Amino acid sequence: MNRVLVIGSGGREHALAWRLSQSSTVEKTFVAPGNAGTALESAIENVGLDTTDFPQVIEFCQEKDIALVVVGPEQPLVDGMVDTLAEAGIACFGPSAQAAQLEGSKAFAKDFLQRHNIPTATYGEFTDVVAAHDYLTKQSFPIVIKADGLAAGKGVVIAEDLAQAKDTVEDMLEANKFGDAGSRIIIEEFLVGEEASYIVVADGKNFIPMATSQDHKARDNGDVGPNTGGMGAYSPAPVVTPVIDQQVAEKVIQATLDGMAKDGMPFTGFLYAGLMIDARGQAKVLEFNVRFGDPETQPIMTRLQSNLDELCLAAINGKLDTMVCKWDKRYALGVVMAEKGYPFSYAKGNPIQGLDTIDGEVKVFHAGTANQGDETVTSGGRVLCVCALADELQAAQKKAYQAVKKISWGSEYYRTDIGFKAL
Ligand code: AMP
Ligand code: GLY
Repeated sequence: MNRVLVIGSGGREHALAWRLSQSSTVEKTFVAPGNAGTALESAIENVGLDTTDFPQVIEFCQEKDIALVVVGPEQPLVDGMVDTLAEAGIACFGPSAQAAQLEGSKAFAKDFLQRHNIPTATYGEFTDVVAAHDYLTKQSFPIVIKADGLAAGKGVVIAEDLAQAKDTVEDMLEANKFGDAGSRIIIEEFLVGEEASYIVVADGKNFIPMATSQDHKARDNGDVGPNTGGMGAYSPAPVVTPVIDQQVAEKVIQATLDGMAKDGMPFTGFLYAGLMIDARGQAKVLEFNVRFGDPETQPIMTRLQSNLDELCLAAINGKLDTMVCKWDKRYALGVVMAEKGYPFSYAKGNPIQGLDTIDGEVKVFHAGTANQGDETVTSGGRVLCVCALADELQAAQKKAYQAVKKISWGSEYYRTDIGFKAL
């Protein structure tokens, strides 16, 4: 029986920890630092570790005899958590710092994609304003400008015309709007189509696809308004037809694993390809994430029936080819409830009402929440992700929104159309 530790505090980590805690081979699940939702789960224990202090994490793992660490967010991966824990003999699921550059540097990812002939938007890479402006005068609009480094999902600007594009370039390269993350930029072709998230578990060589899913990145109904971390997701995503699935598996995922191995940095962990699928069914890579998506994890974990710890351990040991993954055939749909004002400034500390009215058919994953006395209060932009399972997507949507309407803290905000593209 395994004792496992999840690193992180968001909705993704609540869903990963919840699924791990239900595994028939898991004895105990810890989350560091976790949130109010993980604190309320009887089978999960929050631990107040400083997760940027790797020696402290190692000491905890040794003391508690942890068989597996699963890292939720990208920052610790880019900072080398997997490498450091592995040196101490601790099985930590995720890519090495080198391999995590696929997310940590957009320039690294684009150069990698180009070098290995993996379909992606055409692009240029710049550190100099004059060269970037010069490139822009020869392009058509809209165009996409991206800060090279990690920018918490905010480093991508779609510029409608030359003037806005030039301003954005100056903001990033001169005004340092994204700090170091924006000292190098990518300018890339604007792709048209439908987005999908294709997430796999990889062991350096082999992979097993996690169920397909679709996120809703824009804040408001109909995919308008500012970009967010994601306002809701559902799984499976019919936009990924069996033909597209096959194409992505071969031409994107296997090609990426082969390329990374060839370049001397085999990729182990969750690999997430953000895709744009055009009207002809051709998929191009928008970005890589080296971790699970948030909120895609919530509906996907709702559907996973296999033991997640066994999958991660098989991947760490390079034995994914011996595993199969079992899924609930039903649809899962998750609606993110956020604080009004997100993704900009928002209030905190509002007591959440109605959580105890939600029955077993619906699962509420917490993100920005905290426990204060006997109350659960808001403590972040994305607060909850309310997930429902049903035979049809429409029924899952209805069930999720029925539950959403029972939860309130006065200043909640959510999209009312999650799943609209598939319905
Ligand atoms: P990224 O962080 O690179 O996924 O970008 C965030 C969001 O910006 C994506 O989910 C897309 O909605 C949009 N985006 C990024 N790159 C492009 C592109 N080349 N063409 C159109 N939209 C894009
Ligand atoms: N939902 C998008 C992401 O996790 O990056």
